[in-house]
Amino acid sequence: MSIRPVVAGNWKMHHGPAAARAFFRRFRPDVDDGGPRLLIFPPSLSLAAALEARPELPFVALGVQNVHWEKEGAFTGELSAPMAAEAGAEYVLVGHSERRHVFGETDGDVARKVKACLAAGLAPVVCVGETLAERREGRVDEVIVRQLDAALAALRESGKPPEGVMVAYEPVWAIGTGETATPDDASAAHGTLRECLSREGLDEIPILYGGSVRPHNAGELLKAPDVNGVLVGGASLDPESFAAIAEAAPGGS
Ligand code: PGA
Repeated sequence: MSIRPVVAGNWKMHHGPAAARAFFRRFRPDVDDGGPRLLIFPPSLSLAAALEARPELPFVALGVQNVHWEKEGAFTGELSAPMAAEAGAEYVLVGHSERRHVFGETDGDVARKVKACLAAGLAPVVCVGETLAERREGRVDEVIVRQLDAALAALRESGKPPEGVMVAYEPVWAIGTGETATPDDASAAHGTLRECLSREGLDEIPILYGGSVRPHNAGELLKAPDVNGVLVGGASLDPESFAAIAEAAPGGS
């Protein structure tokens, strides 16, 4: 099955509203409607500014970086999936390694968030990935399959179609470190994840690679077998470098 490539940018805790507007004034990737699907995850407080600044690029979808699993309630500092949908988000990053490792999110939390997203009509982009210690212990497949299974169980239980749902393989040791998985390492992990998805009949779900993707390495990662897109952190903050990554995608210019 051919999957339209995806180039996604995770701004993390960067770019307030003014910087989000400035980004979109300069973001002019040379890709057309037949090019990659582009997604950007600004900080929630910048979502409205990003939506407003985006009109000339209607093919860029926006998402939030996290949601709580409850619809509303006494959860100071949190935001819910229905609120994110109402505010114009279409996608949600779920289970990013910084959420798992800095904020202690478990597979169970990820599963609850996947359900909350689907119930609100949002598409979760479920992140999985092993730490360096787990890789050294030869446990890559065990870890990523366990993380993916928790999310897939939630998808099954929700009874919702998997429309827009994506998986991102982000080895923790490659995030923000300048260390990139080789295309072969990425392909090996993606192949494992692809098998799990196929077993569930979810062949249309794209699997993105994330971890120190830059303009100079995006092309070869995007060509690697079973790599259907990239999830870019640091290099998505600069409009020219994110545009260069978008243009490196098959179907880009
Ligand atoms: P990085 O981040 O590209 O800065 O390594 C990737 C991510 O965390 O999604």
